[in-house]
Amino acid sequence: MKYEKEISRRRTFAIISHPDAGKTTLTEKLLLFGGAIQVAGAVKSNKIKKHATSDFMEIERQRGISVATSVMSFEYKDVLINLLDTPGHKDFAEDTYRTLTAVDSVILVIDSVNGVEEQTRRLMEVCRMRDTPVIVFVNKMDRDGKYPFDLLDEIEKELNISLHPLSWPINMGKEFKGVYSLYDKSLNLFTASQKATEDNTVPIPNLADKLLDEKVGERDAQQLREDVELLEGVYGELDTEAYLGGKVAPVFFGSAVNNFGVKELLDTFIRIAPLPLGRATDKRFIEPTEDKFTGFIFKIHANLDPRHRDRIAFLRVCSGKFERNKYFHHTRIDKDVRFSNPYSFLAREKDVIEEAYPGDVVGLFDTGNFKIGDTLTEGEMMQFTGIPTFSPELFKELVNKDPMKTKQLEKGIRQLTDEGVAQLFTQHGGNRKIIGCVGELQFEVIQYRLLQEYGASCAFVPLAFYKACWITGDKKAIDDFVRFKQSNVMEDKDGNLVYLAQSEWFLNTERQNNPKIEFHTTSEFKTAMQN
Ligand code: G4P
Repeated sequence: MKYEKEISRRRTFAIISHPDAGKTTLTEKLLLFGGAIQVAGAVKSNKIKKHATSDFMEIERQRGISVATSVMSFEYKDVLINLLDTPGHKDFAEDTYRTLTAVDSVILVIDSVNGVEEQTRRLMEVCRMRDTPVIVFVNKMDRDGKYPFDLLDEIEKELNISLHPLSWPINMGKEFKGVYSLYDKSLNLFTASQKATEDNTVPIPNLADKLLDEKVGERDAQQLREDVELLEGVYGELDTEAYLGGKVAPVFFGSAVNNFGVKELLDTFIRIAPLPLGRATDKRFIEPTEDKFTGFIFKIHANLDPRHRDRIAFLRVCSGKFERNKYFHHTRIDKDVRFSNPYSFLAREKDVIEEAYPGDVVGLFDTGNFKIGDTLTEGEMMQFTGIPTFSPELFKELVNKDPMKTKQLEKGIRQLTDEGVAQLFTQHGGNRKIIGCVGELQFEVIQYRLLQEYGASCAFVPLAFYKACWITGDKKAIDDFVRFKQSNVMEDKDGNLVYLAQSEWFLNTERQNNPKIEFHTTSEFKTAMQN
């Protein structure tokens, strides 16, 4: 346990939200508290602009900028915080899902006006798979939103998680007066555009105190007393174990744009958020405190500029110490590799990093050796698990438009799918290739990159599939199924059998007709079920 001190001061997390709930704004405010002010401007420019949604080149360009802010590290009260950015654009949702495998907890931002939205639901499903601890930040309390009790109800029902408010709002919209901290028993009075250094908190350990009436007025003081009595009766003390197990999510109310409620959130975060956690491999569970280095690749970022063909692979350190220029074992290709220029994301440090510890993320320049999920060790042969692929939403057949460039096309599509840009399904026993993506823009990215980087031109024919399901179960039942459903059964890149269903009705019918077969909507069904 050589590196316990380094491990215990690290927290690695992501902020997730439906677009526009306030993720970027909250990120900036957290960075301000961390003193990483020079980065704050970059966060805004990192955000994919709304008007650019139809222009994938612009989005990619902005994604390029975002490499620098993919991981924002800052110190707050002696804790080293690694905040992993997740793309807001829904067409790149897979990137976000993978980033969630590299964090130890998340902060979920909910817009008080819109409540639980589509992307919130999906992201939370991914968190549920790994029981990731969640803190909820209800944002935009300065607007007329849903009533707090109704909102809590909605979140609990829709996201299937128990909540535990740690602060409580006094009114909302124009009448918003602030929040009462149920933990500190103090009143934090709202002022618009609060400075990071400004402190408007007043300790009120006993709510019966007349000071409360003085501060917020009699009517609101009375309402707060009633609310808090109700809350304390229902919730009691926060069960931190339940939070760490992903069963209970503490809730804060605030207004990110006004820098309000952010400090309480951050103070609680560093107090309760998990230290870098261990990870499962196909051989054994790796504890972060193990002396030997292990880590895995969770994201690969390609450079769209043809003059710079290098890619950056994002490595999450899981145990031991990562060192520059030291040989590590790349277990999938069974080769030793070393990195002379590992890229540091630490805002205030120079670009090259000498060492990194569990919880840290290192950028590795890659010329095509890595794919998502690849594992580096000090020699032990194993592979990290828990980085599942999810069923795509759109399916198109890949048509080669230039038979002279077949090899280039095959190579290109293999490398792009290794990067996780899209999923490739090949017809079982055939050569038909189907590409599955989360959003339309990904098809454009593939077409463009195949041409620019590999000189291969292709076209896409839309297919009316609804979901891809990995199938497992009784061997004979599977063999029969594959024979009868030949045109719907494909293989993924690793040779696993996948059934492409035309509609929910078809999928349900097949499920009923084939009780000995299991249909899974993620590739890592075993891990998903075990965790
Ligand atoms: P996102 O990253 O989750 O997509 O959201 P982002 O932070 O960009 O916020 C979306 C919009 O919501 C922004 O307004 C932002 O200013 C606003 N916002 C964030 N927090 C609050 C809050 O507490 N109260 C209110 N009323 N608004 C908030 P925009 O007009 O889209 O962009 P901008 O021009 O203000 O940057």
